[in-house]
Amino acid sequence: MAISNSYPNFPSDCKSLLSKHLTKEIYEELKNKKTSSGFTLEAAIASGLENYDSGIGVYAGDLESYDTFAALFDPIIEEYHGFCKSDSHVSNLNAKDLNAPNPDVENKYIVSTRIRVGRNIANLPLGPAITKDQRDEVEKQASQALNSLDGNLKGTYYPLDGMNEEVSQKLIEDHFLFKAGDRFLEAAGLNRNWPKGRGIYHNDEKTFLVWVNEEDQLRIISMQQGGDIKEVFQRLTSAISKIEEKIKFSYSKHLGYITSCPTNLGTALRASVHIKVPNLAQNYAHFEEITNKHHLQIRGINGEHSESVGGVYDISNKRRLGVTEIQCVQDMYDGVVELIKVEKELALG
Ligand code: ADP
Ligand code: ARG
Repeated sequence: MAISNSYPNFPSDCKSLLSKHLTKEIYEELKNKKTSSGFTLEAAIASGLENYDSGIGVYAGDLESYDTFAALFDPIIEEYHGFCKSDSHVSNLNAKDLNAPNPDVENKYIVSTRIRVGRNIANLPLGPAITKDQRDEVEKQASQALNSLDGNLKGTYYPLDGMNEEVSQKLIEDHFLFKAGDRFLEAAGLNRNWPKGRGIYHNDEKTFLVWVNEEDQLRIISMQQGGDIKEVFQRLTSAISKIEEKIKFSYSKHLGYITSCPTNLGTALRASVHIKVPNLAQNYAHFEEITNKHHLQIRGINGEHSESVGGVYDISNKRRLGVTEIQCVQDMYDGVVELIKVEKELALG
């Protein structure tokens, strides 16, 4: 899958949205275009050409990419989020509007809850096109803003550069830190100058964390054991508004919060639980029927592209654009309520 200057040949079993939507005509229309930060079609599709098993296969280098390469991005965005060119995005981060009482007060099914949003700084390129100096500047601005937080958000910024291997490994195993060397990010140019400019901020309890310069410049994360989804959301929204007092994030009326991967546009929010459903796991078609009905995605428990361990799965909202943050969390909540109900019935035989 060498990247060449001609229309790529996708293998017949390639299922990526890139392979579906990059027609010869669109390729010809876009192949010589460039954004003002120098991002090209070749760079946008590099990850999907290097990794034919991609689900999507494209990344944006800047806000302008979504316009310059709209002929490719628009149909991908439409298929992933069900969101058309004529739609507009509305944000709602008001935790008061969320109706999500703990669906598992006895703590039998939900191991932990995590909600994250991606954010990128306005008027800077996104990770795939950022320069080293700009990335270092992001780290500086982010760590300064984070170091000013107080109360339950007060914590410390730990740069990845120079972090002890045992410490980073333990953070990864405990689901707090991103992994190094992701091949999808690598091919998208998102791992350049690794580990410089990357890091993690967290409070002592590790219930509030921020990843710096991974797939997006900031990933703002709230997580805790158990199923108190509302508490997790409240902590997240209060952190976002405090960080927004210091940093202006890239936002467009049409696409919402701008992210490097089109799957994260809009709310850039992924609300997930790690949930124990061994009986549903044995009835996978039924499991998927429920998750599809509620617009949910099933992942393994060690992050994207990982496997389930012991009947525990990561269940999260799939759509993020054209729905509010409240709706994203509500999708996850409603699906989890149904999964628990069916899992209980299956356990009774
Ligand atoms: P994201 O794009 O949301 O960062 P990943 O699937 O790469 O998604 O997950 C990042 C990390 O967060 C992984 O270590 C994963 O195990 C962890 N994680 C995701 N959801 C939960 C959850 N509900 N509870 C605990 N850890 C979680
Ligand atoms: N580029 C990868 C693919 O196409 C990941 C897409 C969605 N996930 C993400 N982390 N952005 O499969």
